[in-house]
This record gives sequence, structure tokens and C-alpha cells, in this order.
Amino acid sequence: MCKFDFNKICVILIKLTFGEELGFQKQTPGFATKSIHNGQKPEQWNSRAVVPPISLSTTFKQSAPGVHSGFEYSRSGNPTRNVLETCLAGLDNAKYALTFSSGLGTQTAILSMLKTGDGIITGDDIYGGTNRLFRNLAANMGIEVQFVDLTDLKNLEKAIKPNVKLVWMETPTNPCMKVIDIKAVAEVVHAKTKAFLVVDNTFLSAYFQRPLDLGADVVMYSLTKYMNGHTDVVMGSAATNSEELHEKLRFYQNATGIVPSPFDCYLVNRSLKTLSLRMEKHFQNSVTVAQWLEAHPKVGKVLHPALPSHPQHKIALSQTFGHSGIMSFYIKNGTLEQSSKFLETLKVFTLAESLGGYESLAELPSVMTHASVPEAQRAELGITDGLIRISVGLEDSQDLINDLEQAFAAI
Ligand SMILES: *Cc1c(COP(=O)(O)O)cnc(C)c1O
Ligand SMILES: *[C@@H]1O[C@H](CO)[C@@H](O)[C@H](O)[C@H]1NC(C)=O
Ligand SMILES: *[C@@H]1O[C@H](CO)[C@@H](O)[C@H](O)[C@H]1NC(C)=O
Ligand SMILES: *[C@@H]1O[C@H](CO)[C@@H](O)[C@H](O)[C@H]1NC(C)=O
Repeated sequence: MCKFDFNKICVILIKLTFGEELGFQKQTPGFATKSIHNGQKPEQWNSRAVVPPISLSTTFKQSAPGVHSGFEYSRSGNPTRNVLETCLAGLDNAKYALTFSSGLGTQTAILSMLKTGDGIITGDDIYGGTNRLFRNLAANMGIEVQFVDLTDLKNLEKAIKPNVKLVWMETPTNPCMKVIDIKAVAEVVHAKTKAFLVVDNTFLSAYFQRPLDLGADVVMYSLTKYMNGHTDVVMGSAATNSEELHEKLRFYQNATGIVPSPFDCYLVNRSLKTLSLRMEKHFQNSVTVAQWLEAHPKVGKVLHPALPSHPQHKIALSQTFGHSGIMSFYIKNGTLEQSSKFLETLKVFTLAESLGGYESLAELPSVMTHASVPEAQRAELGITDGLIRISVGLEDSQDLINDLEQAFAAI
């Protein structure tokens, strides 16, 4: 955008970011600096190491029985893990963050805060493993689980009962990319229940969406995806501003032993340094691919929140700073045979589950990630055999488009 002031004959050039040009929220300053420096003071180590040491020791010397220097046993606390947790808290503007051995491990710790008879309200279109955890494990513990479409707040209000202690949501959802208004959900939850609201923010990372700032009580991640971004660590985290929730989660982290290894903490911490760079590139690549797919004659519908055709495009613009590389599309009238052929023909995209790494992946939710979702629920959600989910990586976008083109040519 240019502003010309002909009287003063001066020209001011204002450069908009990619996200701002598309109408997303203006990124808050300082994110990249925080991701590089939070929790990283060299002064905390005797050696003044700029890259903190990986503390593999499982135990720490005490000066008298019960008198330790802040660390006693590595499950309860570990210096490398602390560095990462401090960094993660900063990225979500949270007071506290904890890490766990996986995203589902984080969810197990959160679930441990509930008792028999309590209730959960969860979005209907959620990660397959979360669906399984709620449907099988929580249900076996005598916890009532209701799956509702949170794009309409009336469904949330109808599901509210006195026993509801946890409201769980993902946005954008998996794999249908529905966008849910976090602020609006938080207002209903806090006005009408004593429950706490958890947002699974795995799909966007802290770079593109900060649910605590929008009213959520806990933000959780499968760090396995964008936050680590290199497809070489399985880990999860939860961040909050509530001391009560933090203390409970910290107790379960230690008491259940769902902890990550120091080496993995080192890797995630290292990956966070490039989070802002990676996310900007994922965003640009996925928008380029989405626009190309939307114009393709063999594509039925493209599900990408940055496209004006997306049903909740306006909500995406109002609560996020952009979008990542995850998206879905329907092969027009696609059969299982066509989808399989399409996926097997791809060469640059790898046919695999997961998402959020530097490499592009493609998969078929109906038989892969979402096979554990009951068939009737899949049909209701639109998870058909023609629905392909892709995770657009950091390759050159033209190579990705050429790859998709040759795969379409084969079906
Ligand atoms: C992968 C994923 C999880 C589970 O995380 P793991 O690290 O695989 O245990 C949870 N939620 C979402 C949205 C995911 O993509
Ligand atoms: C963690 O990453 C930060 C930057 O994000 C870096 O300054 C620090 O040295 C890293 N710590 C470890 C344990 O690698
Ligand atoms: C963790 O559990 C141990 C027992 O295994 C206990 O001694 C310790 O105080 C606990 N630490 C924290 C931080 O909760
Ligand atoms: C193909 O899909 C479109 C919607 O994308 C639908 O309107 C049409 O009826 C379908 N055709 C067949 C033959 O199934």
C-alpha cells in the first residue's frame, strides 16, 4: 500500500505481510525474538553455555536429605525440559507450560483431572486419536462425552449440563477445516458452566493462533507437528495462566510419568527458533496450492480457511494471524479407487499420516487417520473416500503443483 502526499512530495511505503494482504490479523511484534530467547539465559549455567546443555542425568545431588537445588529426579523436573517449557509459555503469552511425552499423553494428563460422573463436551470433528481417547478410555472411566458441532453455539448451549467439567475444541478442525469462534465459545463456557476450555492448537501453532488471548483456559499441542516441524520428535504440551490448572497438570505430569526425554526437549527447543520462518512459508505455499486446486476441473471443493469460499473465512480472519500448511479437498465424485490411485501416484508428496513437518504429506482420512471414527459419524462429517488431506511443506510450490497435476492426470 502506498500513501502519496503531493504537497510535501513525500512517499511513504507501507509493506504489508502476506497475512495482512489476505485480511488476517496483524502479527504481534516480538514473536520471533521470544522463540529465540525465552528461557535461554546463559547465566543459568556455570559454563555460560549459549546453547544450554542437554541434561541426561536422571538424578541430582542433594546437600542434605531433602535439600536440593531445584532438581531431584528427572521425572519431576529436568533442566533441559524447563528451558523448553519456559520458551513454550512465552509463545502463548502464558504464565505456565508443561511438556508431555506426546500430544495424546498431554490429553491423558488433562483427562486425569476429571472423575467418574463428570462430563465432557467436545467438538465433533476432532483428531482421530482424541476421538478414540474420549470414546473408549474416558467412557470406560464413567465420564460422559458429548460430540457437538461447535460452529453453531446453540449446539453447545443445548449440551450444557451440571456435570460438564471440560469443553474441548480444535480449530480449524481435523480433517474438515471448520473454523470455530474461540472467543464466543469461551464466553458461553465461562458464563454457563464451571468447566474449563481446552483448545487443541496443533494445526496452527502458537505463531498463527493464541487461544489463551481469546479466552481459553488451556492451550495444548501435539508438538510432534508444526511446533517441532522436523518430523523427528513425538511430544506434547499444555500452557495456561491458571495456577490451579497448572499445579494439577504438574502433579499428573509427575505422578503418571508422562514425560518427554531431555534429548527430545533439546530438539523441539531447537526447532522453535525457526517456527516463524517455517510457518510463513507453509502459509504461502498452502494458499498457492489451495488457489490452484480450487481452479482444477477434477476438484469438487477445497477446504482452506484463507479462501473466501470457506464457510467460516471471516472468523478465521478475525482470530488468527494466517494459516498453516494443512488443508483438505474433495476429488470430484471421488471413489476409493480414484483416491488411492491419486495418492499412490504422488512423488513429491509422501503418502503418510501426520502433518506439520517441512516435507509435504498426503493421506486419506477415511482409511488412515480417521479410520477409528465410527462410519456413521464419518458420513455425517463429510469424511468420504474422496476427501484428501494434505500437509503442504516447505518445498518449492511449483514442484508441489506439478506433482498434484501428474497425479490428477492418472485418475
Ligand atoms: C497428532 C495430533 C494429536 C496427537 O498428538 P501425538 O503427538 O501424536 O500424540 C492431537 N491433536 C491433533 C490435532 C493432532 O494433529
Ligand atoms: C533452546 O532454544 C533457544 C532458542 O529458541 C536457544 O537459545 C537455546 O540454546 C536452546 N536450548 C537448548 C537446551 O537447546
Ligand atoms: C514428584 O513425585 C515424587 C515421587 O515420585 C515426589 O517426591 C516429588 O516431590 C514430586 N515432584 C513434583 C514436582 O511434584
Ligand atoms: C458429483 O458431485 C456433485 C457435487 O460435487 C454432485 O452434485 C453430483 O450429483 C455428483 N455426481 C455423481 C454422478 O455422483
